[in-house]
Amino acid sequence: VTFLIRTIDLTATGREIVRERELAQDELTIGRAAANDIHLPDLGVEQRHVRVVAATGGRLRLQAASTLGFTVDGRSTRDVTIDPAEGSELVLGSYRLQFASEEGAVAVTIRQVEEREGGKGEALGGFSLAHVLPGKRPVAWAGLLAILVAFLALPVWTHLNRAVAEPDYDKPGVVLMDASWRTGALSSVHHGLEDNCEACHVEPFVAVRDETCLTCHEGIGDHAAQPRQGVARGPLGPFDAAQWNVAHTLNKPGPGACTDCHTEHEGAGRMEPARERFCADCHGSLDARLTDTALGNASDFGKAHPQFQAVLTTGRGLAKPVRVSMAEHPRQWDGLRFPHDLHLAARGGVAQMARRLGTRNGYGEPLECSDCHRPTADGVRFLPVDMENDCESCHSLVIDQVGGVYRKVRHGDARQARAELMALGRASRPAIVTGRGRPGAYGAGGLYRAEFGGPATGAALLARAMAKEGLCGECHVPAGADGSLEVMPVTQPARFFMHGWFDHEEHKQEKCTSCHSAEKSKASSDLLLPEIGQCRECHEGESARTAEVPSGCAMCHSYHPRTGAAAAPPRIARK
Ligand code: HEC
Ligand code: HEC
Ligand code: HEC
Ligand code: HEC
Ligand code: HEC
Ligand code: HEC
Ligand code: HEC
Ligand code: HEC
Ligand code: HEC
Ligand code: HEC
Repeated sequence: VTFLIRTIDLTATGREIVRERELAQDELTIGRAAANDIHLPDLGVEQRHVRVVAATGGRLRLQAASTLGFTVDGRSTRDVTIDPAEGSELVLGSYRLQFASEEGAVAVTIRQVEEREGGKGEALGGFSLAHVLPGKRPVAWAGLLAILVAFLALPVWTHLNRAVAEPDYDKPGVVLMDASWRTGALSSVHHGLEDNCEACHVEPFVAVRDETCLTCHEGIGDHAAQPRQGVARGPLGPFDAAQWNVAHTLNKPGPGACTDCHTEHEGAGRMEPARERFCADCHGSLDARLTDTALGNASDFGKAHPQFQAVLTTGRGLAKPVRVSMAEHPRQWDGLRFPHDLHLAARGGVAQMARRLGTRNGYGEPLECSDCHRPTADGVRFLPVDMENDCESCHSLVIDQVGGVYRKVRHGDARQARAELMALGRASRPAIVTGRGRPGAYGAGGLYRAEFGGPATGAALLARAMAKEGLCGECHVPAGADGSLEVMPVTQPARFFMHGWFDHEEHKQEKCTSCHSAEKSKASSDLLLPEIGQCRECHEGESARTAEVPSGCAMCHSYHPRTGAAAAPPRIARK
């Protein structure tokens, strides 16, 4: 017998694919095993299920090959004879096999009728529960509805209907099932609002708006004066514009909204600092729009950020401090004479004097930065140098000795000092030869002592006080007329870089001299501050992969105008 096996498969799009092959043999086997002539990958079909053999008169005999029977033309059977000329249908699992005569051959057309449960080869057919359950579509819809009710309708309904203003209740009613809407823990600063979502989410389905943040942060203020701030923002690119259009239909405020820069629900802990790109939106090409701005463009600390500019007084008698770029190597006028190099040298007069003073006087070793520069309580910067604490143990203002007690001029008050000198008359022991002598000539016994030029009178001291080796002029620049002890104002700015922030505490590991080349400075007019290049050894832009410290703008800048320490980014101001 010639069998013409025709398999009809349906593609995903519903197109029929017909494959044909011919078998010339007397027997045909049908089953799940691949060894069968007709292989039906369906668990409802046995390994060897049906055997087809030729019967008399061109007819065919279908026999069960193992335990299970089969269905032919609607009837269950284990053994049946059919006539292909009349046509017959064998059902096995999800398969329909049609037998027909075609030009002297027996055509067997195989189709799979029921939708299969899984991918090809995993069909469960008769073993699946599909026929006892409702169809998949209704189940899916019911599930979706249940989710909407539980997680959306219920919270919305309880939110809208809870008793807010009932006099009996001092607490608003409870919103049910809203935990499922939690996208992540609130930051630690807003932790107290964990039970008060409405503090920010005022209206359901409306994104958090600036007004809401401002109810608590009312004093926050504009970053820059309007309309300059508005002009500063660059026009949106087509892609951004399209995104914002979508965002606006969802009631999202912005660009420039609080929630652009301050995201919430990112987990307990500090709020994430504002991302660099939100600053670059305006500052990346600020000068193109704000053509009169004094600020340089900044979009990435490592690649595009202006050189630092220090605010300082550059020369004697200039009333107002000016802002000068570090690239110009500005000099500073601070009204003081003080060479760092001489005082920091490991050898020489100062080191020797420090050793002689010994540890009980707080010295003992050559001077270090910390002998004069003491950190502020928060560690961010340094206290101003103080003459009485930091200089006077060597540069004594002693003018007399009465009994065993030294008399000294009190520092810092020119008129008082002058009066004391006038009243002095003849000093009893003007030359101090203890370790407390003023530096000067290296005297007998290896001690520094005052060069008062022999027994002195107050008047003589006063006359020479403003000279370079004099009582005051050693460190000060005279400001008044002859005989006056008025000195030029001494300035020790706490900050030089007014547009950004620095924090010494975070850089304790570094040697001071890696940023301040103090040990080489011969005059106090040297400005000992680092340039931007020194920061870039570690700090580069937010996305710099190789940087030791990838740094967004918010690390060194705040955004909201404040005065004093409150103007610093929270991580610095908090200290
Ligand atoms: C301090 C303010 C604040 C509080 C309090 C707060 N959220 Fe949010 N929430 C936000 C911000 C900001 C977003 C970001 C999206 C936006 O602009 O609405 C957000 C987004 C969401 C989103 C994502 C949907 C969306 O609009 O993007 C869900 C959900 C959400 N919050 C649920 C809660 C729940 C629940 C609580 C109470 C436990 C809560 N929030 C408390 C500020 C807050
Ligand atoms: C119910 C009052 C309330 C609302 C509403 C509120 N905040 Fe706050 N926020 C606070 C309090 C309180 C602090 C802590 C202040 C502090 O430590 O000085 C804080 C701190 C902050 C901080 C400082 C974070 C830090 O690391 O120091 C930021 C930023 C902030 N809020 C942004 C927002 C934004 C954006 C919104 C609107 C989505 C908002 N807040 C809404 C009360 C509120
Ligand atoms: C362009 C980005 C940006 C926008 C917009 C913005 N902030 Fe800030 N904000 C910052 C930066 C930067 C800091 C300081 C560092 C940090 O914590 O991110 C800061 C700090 C804060 C702080 C804590 C420190 C302080 O100065 O008190 C609060 C509170 C705050 N922002 C609230 C708001 C509110 C409210 C709005 C909306 C009116 C807003 N911010 C809009 C960038 C932004
Ligand atoms: C909407 C536009 C806009 C955004 C966003 C913006 N700035 Fe500004 N910024 C300005 C304008 C305008 C000025 C003032 C310029 C002038 O008047 O010449 C300014 C001034 C400054 C200054 C110098 C003055 C000062 O206060 O020290 C710094 C630093 C600064 N911005 C940093 C930032 C940082 C950091 C961010 C991101 C957190 C940021 N800006 C985001 C518009 C913007
Ligand atoms: C004997 C005291 C003394 C010692 C020790 C000392 N300084 Fe100073 N320092 C001063 C005085 C006084 C000033 C202010 C006058 C001036 O600018 O020179 C000053 C100013 C500074 C300034 C301010 C910026 C400037 O250019 O004026 C820096 C920075 C500085 N010192 C760094 C250092 C470092 C770093 C060390 C250690 C390597 C150091 N100092 C050791 C007394 C000292
Ligand atoms: C440990 C002792 C010691 C301390 C502390 C000290 N000095 Fe001196 N200083 C000396 C000695 C010693 C000399 C003379 C060095 C020499 O000529 O070799 C000197 C010299 C000077 C000179 C003259 C430099 C010159 O070029 O002639 C000035 C100005 C000066 N000191 C200022 C200060 C000031 C200001 C402070 C405090 C901030 C200070 N010194 C702290 C020991 C000290
Ligand atoms: C060894 C160096 C030294 C000597 C000597 C010295 N001073 Fe000073 N003087 C300083 C330093 C350093 C400061 C700034 C720190 C401080 O105020 O303690 C200062 C500050 C001053 C100030 C305050 C200036 C201002 O603008 O705030 C006056 C006034 C002053 N001295 C007067 C005198 C008089 C008068 C004498 C002489 C009797 C004198 N000083 C001797 C180092 C010295
Ligand atoms: C990573 C660089 C760096 C290191 C390390 C560093 N400084 Fe500074 N220092 C700066 C910068 C930047 C400023 C200017 C800060 C400003 O203008 O706000 C400054 C300012 C100063 C000032 C003058 C202003 C003030 O805060 O009083 C003194 C003094 C000073 N540093 C001393 C020191 C000493 C002492 C050390 C070592 C313990 C040190 N610095 C380590 C970068 C550094
Ligand atoms: C030797 C490497 C190094 C150099 C150079 C350096 N920094 Fe840093 N800086 C650090 C490290 C490390 C941190 C801590 C980073 C962190 O906590 O994420 C830091 C933190 C900071 C912070 C944050 C301070 C805080 O309290 O959180 C500021 C602002 C800063 N640096 C500014 C500067 C400036 C400005 C310069 C140049 C004058 C500079 N740094 C040079 C390594 C460096
Ligand atoms: C590692 C610290 C650090 C980082 C990161 C940083 N800055 Fe600065 N920035 C400073 C310091 C310090 C100054 C102050 C210099 C001065 O006063 O001239 C400054 C000054 C500025 C100025 C004033 C410039 C001028 O010409 O007067 C602007 C604007 C500015 N930064 C914006 C930014 C923006 C935008 C970013 C992020 C892309 C950023 N900064 C990142 C430290 C930093």
